[in-house]
Formats: sequence, structure tokens, C-alpha cells
Amino acid sequence: MELHVMDLCKSYKEHIVLEHLSFTAKSGSITCIKGESGSGKSTFLHILSGFAKADSGTIITDLPKMEFTISCMPCGKVLLDALTIGENMKMVCDTASKAELERYHIGELFDRYPKDLSTGEYRRALLCRTFLKDAQIYALDEPTANLDAKTADLIVRQIKEHKNKDSVILVASHDPRIFAAADQIVYLEKP
Ligand SMILES: Nc1ncnc2c1ncn2[C@@H]1O[C@H](COP(=O)(O)OP(=O)(O)O)[C@@H](O)[C@H]1O
Ligand SMILES: [Mg+2]
Repeated sequence: MELHVMDLCKSYKEHIVLEHLSFTAKSGSITCIKGESGSGKSTFLHILSGFAKADSGTIITDLPKMEFTISCMPCGKVLLDALTIGENMKMVCDTASKAELERYHIGELFDRYPKDLSTGEYRRALLCRTFLKDAQIYALDEPTANLDAKTADLIVRQIKEHKNKDSVILVASHDPRIFAAADQIVYLEKP
């Protein structure tokens, strides 16, 4: 599939955030949305995932009826605290098992609760949940921010492993590790 972002504009009052953003992302590839803090990376992902509305411009795909499923990895702590990691995974994938979590190297977290995890463990669990959801578009917001080098490398490796012919992966980041893993880089400049 192809995702076409066409002439997207977004301002908050007189503050211009996105100014005619246009690019195409193809399935089987990783696109890095690169920009310094405040350049509009999260704003773009919010528009893509329907949490915010663009002032003008469109996002379309070449899928029949334009319907697509998106799986997002936000920056924040969005796992459900009352559920174990295993139960959190089952919210997006009925068949999630400890063995399946092993594939993401987080099998040992299956029975633990989100609040008991370190930052790195939490992020790895969140990435796993994002990828366990069957989707055509994966949108990751700064997945390696504030992580130690080893965990960041692991996250990048798993993003690369998830590349497949049926889905588009978009990663908002200013981490050189992500730039190196990307097939395409889209630069966001502060207008
Ligand atoms: N809901 C909002 N209301 C007003 N300004 C916002 C809102 N969300 C984001 N912004 C502003 O838009 C700009 C881009 O923010 P953001 O998309 O979060 O950037 P990034 O993710 O690249 O750090 C920033 O200047 C931010 O303050
Ligand atoms: Mg952001």
C-alpha cells in the first residue's frame, strides 16, 4: 500500500506548525519523520491517527475504500495499570502468549504490572503491544527517547524486524539510530 500525505497544514492560532507537508510512504519501508523538538512530529502523528484535525490538506491511501487500521506508539504511559503486561497485550491481540512475547524479548514481563517496569522495559512492552496489533500503518512517536544505548538499539532492531510488505512504518524521531534504519527521511522544519 501507499500512504500519501498531501499539502498538510496545521496551526494553533497564529502559530504555524505544519506548512504544506507532503510525502509518500510505501509498505515494506520505514519512514522517519525527523525534526527538532517542537517541529510538529507529534502533531503530524496526531492528525494521522485522528486525534487532531488538519486545517487543510489530506492523507489518503491506495487501499480500496481508503480504510486502514493504524497502531500507534505514543510517547506517554498508555498501558492499562490495572492489567498485567500479558493482559495488556491481549487487549490488542487475542492470541498474545508468553511465548509470543519472547519473540520481542519481553516474555519475563508477562505477569508483571506496568507500574513496576523500568523505563526501558515499559518502552519495549509498548513497542510489542504496538506491533502485536494487526495494522496497515504503524506510527511510533520517539520510541528511543531517553533510553540507554542498549535498549535503544534493541528497539531499533525490532522496528527493522517488523518491516513487512503489508504495512507502512512511520517513526517520529531525532535519533541518528532511527535515521540509519530508515528507508526514507522526511524533514520537518520549524516554519
Ligand atoms: N494542543 C496544542 N495547542 C497549542 N499548541 C500546540 C498544541 N500541540 C502542540 N502545540 C505546539 O505545536 C508545536 C509542535 O509540537 P509537537 O507536534 O508536539 O512537536 P514535536 O513532537 O516535534 O516536539 C509546538 O510549538 C507545540 O507547543
Ligand atoms: Mg513530540
